[in-house]
Amino acid sequence: MISEKLREDFPILEKHKDIIYFDNACTTLKPKQVIEAEMRYYTEYGGCAGRSAHRLSKLVSEKVEEGRGKIASFVGAKPENIVYTKNCSEALNLVAKTFDFSKRKKVVGTILEHHSSMLPFEIKALNKEIELVYAKPMPDGTFDLSVYNELIDRNTALVAVHHTNNTLGTKNPVAEIAKIAHDNGAQIIVDAAQGVPHSEINFRKMDADYLTFSGHKMLGPTGIGALVAKYEHLDRMPPFIVGGDTIEQVKTDSVVWAKPPRKFEAGIQHYAGIIGLGEAAEYLKRVGLKNIEQHERELAKIAMDGLSDVQNMRIYGPKDVSKRTGIFTFNARGVTPHQVAIMLDKMKGIAVRSGVFCAQPGMEHIGACDGAVRASFYLYNTKKEVETFTETVKQIVQLG
Ligand code: ALA
Repeated sequence: MISEKLREDFPILEKHKDIIYFDNACTTLKPKQVIEAEMRYYTEYGGCAGRSAHRLSKLVSEKVEEGRGKIASFVGAKPENIVYTKNCSEALNLVAKTFDFSKRKKVVGTILEHHSSMLPFEIKALNKEIELVYAKPMPDGTFDLSVYNELIDRNTALVAVHHTNNTLGTKNPVAEIAKIAHDNGAQIIVDAAQGVPHSEINFRKMDADYLTFSGHKMLGPTGIGALVAKYEHLDRMPPFIVGGDTIEQVKTDSVVWAKPPRKFEAGIQHYAGIIGLGEAAEYLKRVGLKNIEQHERELAKIAMDGLSDVQNMRIYGPKDVSKRTGIFTFNARGVTPHQVAIMLDKMKGIAVRSGVFCAQPGMEHIGACDGAVRASFYLYNTKKEVETFTETVKQIVQLG
C-alpha cells in the first residue's frame, strides 16, 4: 500500500489543497526531491558537461553520467543504451527519421497510437517512402496477438506500438509482439510514455529494439526524455540532430562521428532535467512500481464500480480493471467532454483532460469522434479523491 504521507513530498498538493489532480497521463506533479535535484544543478554545479577541463565541468559530466546510470537501471538497460532526448516524441522521431527503410518498407502500428508514435511514420507513408498498416483492437480496446501475427511478415521493417495506451490505459503484449517481429526479421519500437511511469519495465527482458519515454510523465522535469536502444542499432544509425559534442573530428570535407550515445546528443543538454530525471527514477524505485500499479488499479476499480452502471454514461475500454491501468476515459450523453471537464474543475477542483488526447484516429475508432473525458490516477491520488470524482460525475451526468 502507498502511504498518503507521500503527498507531503509534492509542493503543489500543499499549495492547492482544493485540487484533485487526475491529469497524470498528460503530465505528473513533481516531488520536492526532484525539484531540489534540479535546483542543485543551478546552485551547486553550473557549467557544461564533456567540454571543459575545469572542476565544475567535470562535476556536471559526472552528474550527467550518474543520471544515465540511474535511468538505465530503472528500465533494465545499460547506460550505453540511453540517449537523452527532449521528450518521448523526439525519441520516436529520432528512430523514424534515421531508420534504414531501404530493404523493407512496411511499418506495422496500431490504430490506437498517440500522434507522436503515429505521425513520424504517417508522414513517411504519405510521401510514399514506406507502407504503414494499423493493427485494430478487439471491441474492448485490447489487442489479440493474432492481429500482429497476421500483419507482421517478411516485408515488415519495423513494428511501432504503444506499451500502455494513453486513451484506454490498456497494455499491449509487447514482449510477445517483439518475438513476432524478430521471427520475421523486423525490429520493434515501443512507445512507453504511459508505461515506464506506471509499470515495472525491463528493456532487456522485453527484447525491444527501441523504447521511448518522457521524464515529465514520471515525476521528472519537462524537456527531458529518453530513447533506450540496443547498442548495435545506435552504432549503425546515422546522427539525427548534429552539432556540438556529437563528433570526434570535423574537417570541411569529412566528419568522424562520436560513439553513441554522444553521437545523438547535440549541443548543450538539459543538465538540470537530466539530474532531476535520475532522481525521479530513484523516487519511483523507492515507492516500488508494483505498489504503484496496484494502487492505480485499486483507484480504477473504485471509479469502475461507482460508475459502470450509471445510465447515459459510456466508459471506454475493458470493464475488467485487471486489463487496465489508472486511466479512466468516459463520456456523458448530452454534455460535451469539455463541459464535463470544466464542471469537474468548478464543482470540486478535479483536474482531468478532455478532447481526443493526441490520438484522433484511435478515438474515432473507439467511437469517440468528438472526444471524451479522461481521468488518470497516480501514486499520490487517494480513494477519497476517486469517490469524490465518481459522485461529481454522477451529478454531471444527470444534467445531460
Ligand atoms: N501525451 C499526453 C496525453 O496523452 C499529452 O495527454
